[in-house]
Amino acid sequence: MTKPNHHIFVCGSFRANGTPQGVCAKSGSGALMQYLEEELSNRGLGDVAISSTGCLKVCDRGPAVVVYPENWWFGHIDSEEAIDEVIDSIERGSPSPTHVIN
Ligand code: FES
Repeated sequence: MTKPNHHIFVCGSFRANGTPQGVCAKSGSGALMQYLEEELSNRGLGDVAISSTGCLKVCDRGPAVVVYPENWWFGHIDSEEAIDEVIDSIERGSPSPTHVIN
């Protein structure tokens, strides 16, 4: 495997101290990961990796997604259309203003 050019981190709400799941997992971030993987494949973006993370500490704007190395943070990624905007951002080279967290 070659190193990815982009890495999408999807909040999975994991917390080391065992506190209850946060908003991202409850809002279906896990289910959206399958769509994200399929859509990246459909678009031929084999240089983009996906990982699930612990709580990203922006729970009030969850489900949250971060793209590196761009350091783009996106909130309210709760639909396939919102995922499309994240992928569009990578393809375009600039973050979607609709969901970006500044
Ligand atoms: S649970 Fe996702 S940001 Fe906290």
